[in-house]
Amino acid sequence: MDNDRLTIFTSAACNNNCVFCSDRKPDLSFKNAAWLTPEGFLKQSKKIESLDSMLFTTCEPTLNKNLTNFIKLAKQKGYKHICLQTNGRLLSYGSYVDELVKAGLTEVNISIHGSSKKIHEALTRTPNGYAQTVQGLKNIVALKDIFRLKVNTCSTLTKLNYKNIYFLIKMLLAFEKIDCIILNTLMYAGNADKFFNQLFVSYSELAKEFKKAIDKLKRSYGDKKELPIKIETMPFCLMGGYENYVGIPETPYYIKNKEKTMLHRSSATTKTPICSPCRHYKLCSGIDVTYAEKIGWLELAPIK
Ligand SMILES: C[S@@+](CC[C@H](N)C(=O)[O-])C[C@H]1O[C@@H](n2cnc3c(N)ncnc32)[C@H](O)[C@@H]1O
Ligand code: SF4
Repeated sequence: MDNDRLTIFTSAACNNNCVFCSDRKPDLSFKNAAWLTPEGFLKQSKKIESLDSMLFTTCEPTLNKNLTNFIKLAKQKGYKHICLQTNGRLLSYGSYVDELVKAGLTEVNISIHGSSKKIHEALTRTPNGYAQTVQGLKNIVALKDIFRLKVNTCSTLTKLNYKNIYFLIKMLLAFEKIDCIILNTLMYAGNADKFFNQLFVSYSELAKEFKKAIDKLKRSYGDKKELPIKIETMPFCLMGGYENYVGIPETPYYIKNKEKTMLHRSSATTKTPICSPCRHYKLCSGIDVTYAEKIGWLELAPIK
């Protein structure tokens, strides 16, 4: 994935209701915001010479009826990589997937949070959404080679699904064509902060489960196969021997007052007072700010 992207806030509504969602704020007063229209899109998407990549996200972008037009406009403006981040439910409609891809979409990230309906829907709190998301993934994978699409999945790890990591990855690897299986550790914002106690799982516990899953997968797929898996916002010092699986976060931008502005996702994470001598200091994302406040950082062990 490219590391710098222009992020487009594409929707103010969602057809899922994820218990961990950082986007789900009670105040959706921007529901009728001008930037959700084609005119608004033109303002917030001015071509920035240094950026070739655009990402449609926030709430559920496929609920914005202008999405196909946005993609066409992005292509006309010269963006080479046009990516959609989605829960994938509306991609279960094959004709809609065709429309988006023909408009110029080049990359899709589909969020899927478990290897079974029960686990996924316990997190999305949306009955029968799982079948649609899986169908959406199948539809996009079917077009991958024809349109040279990049297809990634995103899964958010919480106490309710982290023991499922191995089965989830195994199921996604069976698609054979997924470019990257991205596992996101929790940002404790929005719903995730509200339901902190129900969702919390320590970085150490996650690292242990992740390593166990990788070892088991390596035994099935053979040591030589490079598994296309990244775990995001995971402190390097807990990933000894598995550092190559730690994702380096992209740098997201958006347009504010006609200027390119960095989305301060980094303000959601922090390095701790013990991090400075660590050899991974520069690359490591640190840990979630709320996690640091509530739990601390005693589990971290800087590598000198
Ligand atoms: C906020 S959603 C918006 C796009 C779309 N609705 C989706 O689910 O992909 C973007 C991604 O952020 C992830 N996400 C949401 N809340 C999160 C949180 N508190 N911590 C980590 N990832 C989160 C979702 O699982 C999803 O992969
Ligand atoms: S993570 Fe995506 S699908 Fe889930 S509630 Fe948030 S915006 Fe909707």
